[in-house]
Amino acid sequence: MSAWSEMDRVYLDHNATTPVDSELKAELLNYVEAWGNPSSIHWNGRHPKNLIRDARSALATGLGVSPLEIVFTSGGSESNSSVFRSMFEYYARKNLKPFFVASSVEHPSVMRSLEHFAQLGARVEFIPVSKRGELDLNRYLELLQQKPNLVSIMFANNETGVINDIQTLCKMAHDAGALFHTDAVQAYGKLEFSLQQLNVDYASISAHKFYALKGAGVLFIKKNSPFIASVFGGGQERHRRGGTENTLGIAALGFMARKLDKISQKRIEIEKLRDDFEAKVMGSISDVVINCKTAQRLPNTSSMLIAGVDGETMLMNLDINGYAVSTGAACSSGNPEPSPVLLAMGFTRDEAQSSLRVSLGWNTTQEQLDVFVEELKATVARLRMLKANSQLQGQG
Ligand SMILES: Cc1ncc(COP(=O)(O)O)c(C=O)c1O
Repeated sequence: MSAWSEMDRVYLDHNATTPVDSELKAELLNYVEAWGNPSSIHWNGRHPKNLIRDARSALATGLGVSPLEIVFTSGGSESNSSVFRSMFEYYARKNLKPFFVASSVEHPSVMRSLEHFAQLGARVEFIPVSKRGELDLNRYLELLQQKPNLVSIMFANNETGVINDIQTLCKMAHDAGALFHTDAVQAYGKLEFSLQQLNVDYASISAHKFYALKGAGVLFIKKNSPFIASVFGGGQERHRRGGTENTLGIAALGFMARKLDKISQKRIEIEKLRDDFEAKVMGSISDVVINCKTAQRLPNTSSMLIAGVDGETMLMNLDINGYAVSTGAACSSGNPEPSPVLLAMGFTRDEAQSSLRVSLGWNTTQEQLDVFVEELKATVARLRMLKANSQLQGQG
């Protein structure tokens, strides 16, 4: 049994996943009661069908699009993967191979998809991203002149929190005749935006990054944009994603979509906490660099490099003391390889290996952050001393 109670623990890894919203939690049992098959014509299908319809409508309203453009999926990874799969097949039917362009710091679900379809003959090119988090726009323009079929650029990066100007990037792609997809998984629930205004053709969203449940998400497909399903079934989601719907996950996401109006206030509060946290870290620990500080960032995300400290060791030390943080993407934790995102941005392996990501959430308090700064300070001092001692012993 852990020595830490839930009360003592401090969760600062909200870009990995978020706790279930307390109001939503109180509603979940009602959704479980809607256990019927939403496709059933009889009475037992009505409740789940209505829940899904209401969720679709809430999502569509929040995103400024039509409910018909919302396709429920199992989450961000499926939404991302299915866009590339669909595009590949769309061109394969014409005996052609597509040309994809993406940023070099996309989520593994995009990167692995691109790797996969490159092996099958697609052309894939990446837009470099600088250490400050800026996309190389000159390279992007050069690539657009080569007429890609689909551009995929994430709305906000899960590790650095850097926000891309999707409206402009999408317009540039459209002017060059390309379709545009954005992975909006980290942006949804943290930033206010209208997909209609951004004018993207496809967008991915995940429920568990916004206080709902794991295993549910959305793929937005703009009306008339080509799409070929990868999951076949009984015609659900207008034949765009087969399989009996995850009613519970979808209804929960719909519940949170109705809370989107909370974002503007939360954003201000969380950003203030984050900025204050960063100032305290900089003021109390030497040789720390806050990544992409000059870029537009998600209000909740702080990514830093702490010189002379191994990120994984630091993470484990903090974990023992009840603090949940990350060295980068959650799926790569436990993996000694440094963050591919930071490497792609031009950081050395040593630098990337010294990274720490702290991501705040709706329930994060000033007090939690203050005790965390103290813990971090002590941990960094201890690890730096251990390293200095072992280097001295190595010399002796
Ligand atoms: C930017 C980004 N895209 C996609 C995903 C994958 O979402 P899911 O966990 O719902 O598959 C994540 C989750 O880590 C993410 O941060």
